[in-house]
Amino acid sequence: MTDTPPENLELLYEGKAKKVYQTELPYEVLVWFKDDATAFNGAKKGQIHSKGLLNNAISSLFFELLDSRGVKSHYIRKVDDRSMLVKKLKIIQIEVVVRNIAAGSLSQRLGLPEGRVLAHPVVEFYYKDDSLGDPLINNSHISVLSLATPEDLKYLTEQSLLVNSILKEHLLARKIKLVDFKLEYGFSDKEILLGDEISPDTCRFWDYDTNEKLDKDRFRRDLGNVEEAYQQLYDRLKG
Ligand code: TMP
Ligand code: ASP
Repeated sequence: MTDTPPENLELLYEGKAKKVYQTELPYEVLVWFKDDATAFNGAKKGQIHSKGLLNNAISSLFFELLDSRGVKSHYIRKVDDRSMLVKKLKIIQIEVVVRNIAAGSLSQRLGLPEGRVLAHPVVEFYYKDDSLGDPLINNSHISVLSLATPEDLKYLTEQSLLVNSILKEHLLARKIKLVDFKLEYGFSDKEILLGDEISPDTCRFWDYDTNEKLDKDRFRRDLGNVEEAYQQLYDRLKG
């Protein structure tokens, strides 16, 4: 077991769910997944036992699947239970959310009942800024804030829709609905790569038959059995 962060590497950054360490190679960093969980922009804090292990394993599986289908990401390889080696990125300050089924903030904002299947995937952009609470933004805001060029934004949108179709199909074969998810991207040299993680922290997964939630909404909404839900998702992905 590797339940302690590396001591020999320089800590570059500590986020809400991960620590990032510099490796000996300037272009490679180690991502170490914590059990810490937050919600509502850090207003709710807790721990989910084994979350770091499960999110590392689940993200690795998804990045490997996407790589096999031609989606380039920062992922290099899983190193141990809690960490993966990735390419160092200059993060684009946009969170791309793709939605197939209404839930969460979309349901609140547009008055759509949770569970309403959307006629086509909805792509949204959020400004990645914790002090502002990650507000929803549009192309015009992105341009005025110089967060991405129109060409790069088009690429982010197309890649995110491609990721959606690959993950949606893969999950459906395992009787899981991909409700929505959030992606982040960054530059490695001049190339844009998918970054961050793809896990129950950043996606909504529902059981196909029962709509049981297999993601962080169990923590956000105090539904119980949080670790069990993450474990079940992992087992079904692996199985
Ligand atoms: P939302 O319905 O709260 O806007 O969330 C949409 C999706 O994005 C959901 O799968 C959770 C994910 N998400 C994050 O990963 N980080 C965030 O900060 C937020 C607000 C949502
Ligand atoms: N916004 C993230 C979430 O709810 C985490 C946080 O807000 O602290 O998933």
